[in-house]
Amino acid sequence: MNHAAPPLDPVKLREDFPILSVRVGADPARGDEGVPLVYLDNAATTQRPRSVIQSLVNVYEQSYSNVHRGAHWLSGLSTAGYNAAREKVQEFVNAAHFEEIIFTRGTTEAINLVARSWGDRFCQAGDEIVLTELEHHANLVPWQQLAERVGVKLRTIPIDDRCQLDLEQFDKLLSPRTKLVSFTATSNVTGTITPVVEIIARARRVGAVTLVDAAQSAPHLPTDVRAWGADFVALSGHKMLGPSGIGALYGRRELLASMPPFLGGGGMIDRVWADHFTPGDLPYRFEAGTPAIAPAVGLGAAIDYLNYVGLDAIHAHEQLLTARAHELLADIPGVKIWGPPLEHKAGIVGFTLDGVHPNDIAEVLDQDGIAVRAGHHCAMPLHQRLGVEFTVRASFYFYNTLAEVEQFAKTVAHAQRLFRKR
Ligand code: ALA
Repeated sequence: MNHAAPPLDPVKLREDFPILSVRVGADPARGDEGVPLVYLDNAATTQRPRSVIQSLVNVYEQSYSNVHRGAHWLSGLSTAGYNAAREKVQEFVNAAHFEEIIFTRGTTEAINLVARSWGDRFCQAGDEIVLTELEHHANLVPWQQLAERVGVKLRTIPIDDRCQLDLEQFDKLLSPRTKLVSFTATSNVTGTITPVVEIIARARRVGAVTLVDAAQSAPHLPTDVRAWGADFVALSGHKMLGPSGIGALYGRRELLASMPPFLGGGGMIDRVWADHFTPGDLPYRFEAGTPAIAPAVGLGAAIDYLNYVGLDAIHAHEQLLTARAHELLADIPGVKIWGPPLEHKAGIVGFTLDGVHPNDIAEVLDQDGIAVRAGHHCAMPLHQRLGVEFTVRASFYFYNTLAEVEQFAKTVAHAQRLFRKR
């Protein structure tokens, strides 16, 4: 990571995001102007720049038709736009081949695709799948379902007290029985950035396949499937400025080619007879039915915007915001931040406040126009490991400012005083 990236200007970039100007609670009928929105829920979903919104309008106004099948001009145009978006994803993750990029609804569907297709074909009772204590339910439940279907055993890399993966324990879990190591690149609760290259290298030594859940890393840090040596990588468009309902699975070509289709229907076949079918070529074999055509183009526009801002600059800016949040929260009595040291952490600050329910903190923040998430963040086993039921989570993006972080911390301090008195 190049920390010498020129600093970005969040105030200028915010002008590209219409929604960041909405006023929370505004009610003109009552003369209430509301308060400015401070959007710190970016790990849940990000906002979209005008160029992404406009790309959707352009598709529907100028080039929309179904893809692949049509023998008419408009279908050709639509197909070209859809595949150009695939090329942008290919370049964004540095995949060697176009057919290694499968469009899915998001990370969840991408992981389910691998569990159903690769898992059902290649795993059997006695095989082991290694996960981590940091995982989102999307990278737990599909493997639990696979365990129910075929009898694989699930193993878990523990975290240490600094919310980092214990790689010595990981080594002890690895064996010739290890069929897959599937793990997050960045935790959506603690912000832990995991050592992706190191984990994959160790997994490969025992011949295990690897899957990286890049939902929380792809919007903020470079994704390089070849440098990582990953077999599968999953990401979500809506967490990286794109539309919801679109995401991607990268799969190494040889592996994808050996896997049966996940869903059956139109678009994924070569030929169909009354009683059987032969599957089509990659990547279409895994894209049954009419795909999310406009959202895919929107994801391509989001990638263009991310390239314009630069992931190095994004990461450097988020580190500034996170360091400031840590510094200010540390001064508030009873605040506990759940996460690793700053140098191993993304712009996600999960915390609790002694004696105050996380929902109450989120509510006080909401009254000030500050959007955060409170709950288990779809990571219940991780919260069980931390020994808390829920956390509050502030998650930053490049359009957040230091002033917003300061306002957030000031309101948390206010909440602390408010509830201490009760
Ligand atoms: N996975 C999203 C989150 O962490 C929804 O909030």
